[in-house]
Amino acid sequence: MKLLVTGGCGFIGSNFVRYVLKERPEWEVVNLDKLTYAGNLANLRDVEIHPRYKFVQGDIADAGLVEELFAQEQPDVVVNFAAESHVDRSILDSTPFIETNVKGVQVLLEAARKYRVERFLQISTDEVYGSLGEEGYFSEEAPLRPNSPYAASKAAADLLCRAYYKAYGVPVVITRSSNNYGPYQFPEKLIPLMIRNALLGKELPVYGEGKQVRDWLFVEDNCRAIALVLEKGRTGEIYNIGGGCEKRNLEVVHSICRIVADVVRKPVEVILSLVKFIPDPRGSAHDFRYALDCSKIKYELGWQPSVDFEKGLRSTVDWYLRNQEWVESIITGEYYEFYRKVYGTSVSH
Ligand code: NAD
Ligand code: DAU
Repeated sequence: MKLLVTGGCGFIGSNFVRYVLKERPEWEVVNLDKLTYAGNLANLRDVEIHPRYKFVQGDIADAGLVEELFAQEQPDVVVNFAAESHVDRSILDSTPFIETNVKGVQVLLEAARKYRVERFLQISTDEVYGSLGEEGYFSEEAPLRPNSPYAASKAAADLLCRAYYKAYGVPVVITRSSNNYGPYQFPEKLIPLMIRNALLGKELPVYGEGKQVRDWLFVEDNCRAIALVLEKGRTGEIYNIGGGCEKRNLEVVHSICRIVADVVRKPVEVILSLVKFIPDPRGSAHDFRYALDCSKIKYELGWQPSVDFEKGLRSTVDWYLRNQEWVESIITGEYYEFYRKVYGTSVSH
């Protein structure tokens, strides 16, 4: 089976490409990636000459390029990871989010329709459901109530997928996962940002009081779920993928502090003193809590998360410690500019 994976040079995409090459010896991967600030060839350096892997640089919103690629490669299935993925950036400027997350998906769906792919897997997010209070869970039937431009662009893509399934019979499946963490995540997201800053002795900027709740999923568990949905998921269906591991942001930051203190052999108080509460840059677009009802994927496909959060977090800290060169190599001046815009000049970076 030939997979067209888009956004394979990003965080989840690169973990998925590596997972598939290892776990599915019959599958070939063509990776289409624009190489934005979040996409790095270094994320797949170890497989770049793999006989079942091919990289193509390009934009999913470029209809000519996408058409040419489908004609040339004739993929059996599409797995679309490509997206602008950071909520804070979407609040600063929603334009690239609409271009990639909405227009790009429409371009891919058109090509999938024309070239009659066997499956189109759209990688979506729990953020499309909006925010929960202290109680309750979102099932796949929950209404879409996105609160940030990022979430709105992902919800729009999900609706386009539904429409292409209903109107043209494109064999679409959607996964909506909770917050992923693990190796190769760009250090703009909570966990890698806090790990990098803690290792460098920089401030740890917590939005508001750090009371928001996220459900953490180790990236390899998500990759396993995505591969299963690709193989066995029912066409036209949506599958939630959650870690079943709800934590307040401050709890996560404190766990990182404890692990980093242990690893670098410093008193935990020294690392904890780096925590700095800052005015919430997301304002009322900051969702309080996400939590998913994952009974559908559990009972239909037999999937459940396998990595315990403390173990996954420790292995992630270890990975960032061993790969500090990678972290610094993917950070450019653009990162510092973005950092100043979100965190202001009073937070060290
Ligand atoms: P990421 O930002 O790390 O990677 C995105 C990748 O897409 C990069 O390689 C980038 O170069 C590429 N890309 C961006 N625009 C492109 C375009 N126009 N054409 C081709 N490639 C383009 O993102 P991620 O965290 O790996 O997320 C991957 C997908 O999973 C996204 O669709 C995101 O919405 C979804 N998701 C992420 C999480 C999470 O916790 N990270 C959770 C749920 C869903
Ligand atoms: O839920 C799935 C989503 O998870 C994905 O769709 C998104 O692509 C992914 O970025 C992630 O979104 P979040 O906004 O939940 O993740 P982030 O790591 O940016 O933030 C997690 C929480 O931590 C959130 O409540 C904001 C807070 N935060 C984040 C950063 C970067 C801080 O307090 N300080 C920070 O510096």
